[in-house]
Amino acid sequence: MSYSSQNRPVRKAVFPVAGLGTRFLPASKSVPKEMLTVVDMPVIQYAVNEAREAGIEHFVFVTGRNKGVIEDYFDVQPELRATLKARNKADMLEVLADSQPEAGRTSFTRQQEPLGLGHAVWCARDIVGDEPFALLLPDMVMKSDKCGCLNSLMNVYNETGGNLIAVEECDPEEVSNYGVIKKGAEVAGGFEIQGMVEKPKKEDAPSNLFINGRYILQPEIFGLLENQETGAGGEIQLTDAMLRLSETQPFHGCKFDGLSFDCGSREGFIAANVAFALDREDTGPVVRKIIQDMLGQ
Ligand code: UTP
Repeated sequence: MSYSSQNRPVRKAVFPVAGLGTRFLPASKSVPKEMLTVVDMPVIQYAVNEAREAGIEHFVFVTGRNKGVIEDYFDVQPELRATLKARNKADMLEVLADSQPEAGRTSFTRQQEPLGLGHAVWCARDIVGDEPFALLLPDMVMKSDKCGCLNSLMNVYNETGGNLIAVEECDPEEVSNYGVIKKGAEVAGGFEIQGMVEKPKKEDAPSNLFINGRYILQPEIFGLLENQETGAGGEIQLTDAMLRLSETQPFHGCKFDGLSFDCGSREGFIAANVAFALDREDTGPVVRKIIQDMLGQ
């Protein structure tokens, strides 16, 4: 297996945001779940910041109906800027500037029907073109004191090339909620992936290492997705296409040593809010006190 054509720089990241978000109804009727805030920042901004930190230059959003507000969010708002300037709110102007990708560094395309994650990724094929790309599922919000999750993947990618998947340990009772991998030999800060399966039964799961929503993929995945039949849940599954790609290209894993929050679920979203609020200097002390009072401690 040759790595030579499979270690080109990763410049683009894809963010699939076309899912229906049914677990967040009724809010997701009109507010995309990616725009719900963890403390004061939309969920999508955490993923974009993580990608920027990993050196990503171009941000590709696969949106759907009712998701136009995500595109607006990343646009400049001249009136708001002017008002903040007139009121000498330099700190807020800085917050706005930090949230903003550079002009020309974003692309938006639509998945017209939510046919599954694999289909959403395939919708980005023309914008990504013939180069490796990062894939971030934005409802997974990552918290780390050290290296961001995508950054860790990039470090392994720089050694191995090919395809990379970030994983984490879960309670073995919960494997059937996730894509799960089979771990092979350790390599360059990561390890070989010998197999993967989407939402296995507990007794069939090859490990308790689940795919946590951060990937680096080679462009050949698009050709496989094009012909991919529907899999688990009647959706076009990314994992099935990755399995086929793994027959011809290397896949490595990297264990994320931080905390991830599934903000597509109510519990994960609430946990993320608590964790980030406790961690921040501005909100931490007050929120800690509120929680302690509530718990009667
Ligand atoms: P999820 O399965 O978590 O999202 O997909 P969902 O379908 O919106 O959620 P529920 O189950 O109805 O609450 C993981 C990621 O893939 C995207 C989602 O937006 C999310 O970021 N996705 C999923 C798409 O873009 N298109 C799809 O067809 C499915």
